[in-house]
Amino acid sequence: MDAVIRPLRETDRPAAGRLLDETVGAGFWRFTDGAGALSFVALTDAHVAGVVLACLEPGDDPDVRTAMSGSASAPASGDERVLHVRQLAVAPAARRAGLASRLLARAETEALTRGARAAFAFGWLPFGRPEPDAVPFYGAAGYEARPDIADFYAEDSVATGALCPYCGAPPCHCAARPFVKLLAPG
Ligand SMILES: CC(C)(COP(=O)(O)OP(=O)(O)OC[C@H]1O[C@@H](n2cnc3c(N)ncnc32)[C@H](O)[C@@H]1OP(=O)(O)O)[C@@H](O)C(=O)NCCC(=O)NCCS
Repeated sequence: MDAVIRPLRETDRPAAGRLLDETVGAGFWRFTDGAGALSFVALTDAHVAGVVLACLEPGDDPDVRTAMSGSASAPASGDERVLHVRQLAVAPAARRAGLASRLLARAETEALTRGARAAFAFGWLPFGRPEPDAVPFYGAAGYEARPDIADFYAEDSVATGALCPYCGAPPCHCAARPFVKLLAPG
């Protein structure tokens, strides 16, 4: 698919926000999930067909610890920076054309240039549903699956009142599966 990958701009927000609302669920993401030049959009015919919101976290961030402790990719100290892939979504009509792979690769490359040597993401496992596309996707992208975390989104869903597209009113009962990857040797 002919697509351009470029940094997310302010003017992309309405279209990227609609895509994230439709795929991830309103209330389950924020633009503040992405920071600096680590968030990108995929454009096809000038339309936003995919988006990644990512940021760098310090090695001692609670999310980093939750996702990575016990893994070979875990940072050795709090001074290390780790790429956190907060949200990644591609419009249904544009899937299986490599857009998410390209978006993720751009975020990883940018993180590497900023000194990160590892990356992680929490894959959403919708309650009572088959495993989502994110599972084979992160596997194909070289990420290692870590043990599932039950009720991962419950607290946030209660705090924000967000309606889970899969299990409904708060608290959300969906689990998360951490995916981790070493981007560069230590
Ligand atoms: C997961 C998601 C981002 C993948 O986007 P995509 O652009 O279709 O992914 P790519 O085309 O780059 O896929 C790369 C590889 O991942 C694997 N993969 C992706 N989707 C897959 C699926 N549905 N079934 C099996 N393998 C899949 C394949 O190995 C694929 O390579 P191939 O097409 O050559 O076989 C997309 O399905 C999506 O937006 N899902 C909803 C939101 C979501 O789950 N986001 C993940 C973050 S929690």
